[in-house]
Amino acid sequence: MSAEIISGTEISKAIKDELKVEVTDLKEKHGVVPGLVTILVGENPASQSYVAAKNKTAHALGIHSEQVTLPEDTTEADLLALVDKCNMDDKINGILVQLPLPKHIDEAKILYAIDPDKDVDGFHPVNVGKMVLGEQCFLPCTPHGILELLERSGVETSGKEVVILGRSNIVGKPIANLMLQKRHSGNATVTLCHTRTKDTDFHTRRADIIIAAVGVPNLVKADQVKDGVVIIDVGVNRIGKSKNGKAILAGDVDFDSVREKAAKITPVPGGVGPMTITMLMKNTVQAAKQAAGLE
Ligand code: GUN
Repeated sequence: MSAEIISGTEISKAIKDELKVEVTDLKEKHGVVPGLVTILVGENPASQSYVAAKNKTAHALGIHSEQVTLPEDTTEADLLALVDKCNMDDKINGILVQLPLPKHIDEAKILYAIDPDKDVDGFHPVNVGKMVLGEQCFLPCTPHGILELLERSGVETSGKEVVILGRSNIVGKPIANLMLQKRHSGNATVTLCHTRTKDTDFHTRRADIIIAAVGVPNLVKADQVKDGVVIIDVGVNRIGKSKNGKAILAGDVDFDSVREKAAKITPVPGGVGPMTITMLMKNTVQAAKQAAGLE
């Protein structure tokens, strides 16, 4: 058996087409143009390429986007002042501070300073708290994208054994929470494995769905999964450079071997990555509608 590929590129295109119509409608019927600001501190090449992709996508959808790039030695106070300015700016509905931030800046302090109504990343504790309670809020983009991938590719999650690898605040913890909620792509029995888990293989071998978000290239091999598993690979690991200088990417799952056993699998690139950006756009449109009293 060779797995069906879950194409994040295709699914995100479908969502972007829906968003494009929504953005045009908002402008024509209500004079509302959603606005996003991305803030990048320093010169991390991966972060640079993510932020560029976010702005490009916003532009393509008709979303007003501003890109602020600050030097590595920017002070915490200056960054807080910028966040505050964006909080007050009516043209801006969504504020995204690209992570990781340089070591001398307290990440939590910055994220907590973002107005929760403009927190399109869903990282502010108000939104995290609402998410855990199952209330309407901005969902973090990567977990939100995973839910959409599962739903739109017809993966049943209710009553299934979901095993998540990695306990990050950005992916592991929120996706674990979302998949156990009474909601679409939820109602699963969730196990979250991490570096202190005693026997991770025991869990992955009994999983109906594996979500890998650890940042270790090709970690999950075919002998660690059961036949018919669904694989969502969140890893974006840079394992080298091609002749023309482009990064060569690998996921956390050994795609070539695991695809022979899996029922469905996301590729890297072209799986979860495009969904993260698309869900940021969806959250920005949602923020604009809320700000205009339309939702
Ligand atoms: N760094 C890696 N993923 C993300 C994300 O989803 N949002 C932000 N702001 N930074 C990130």
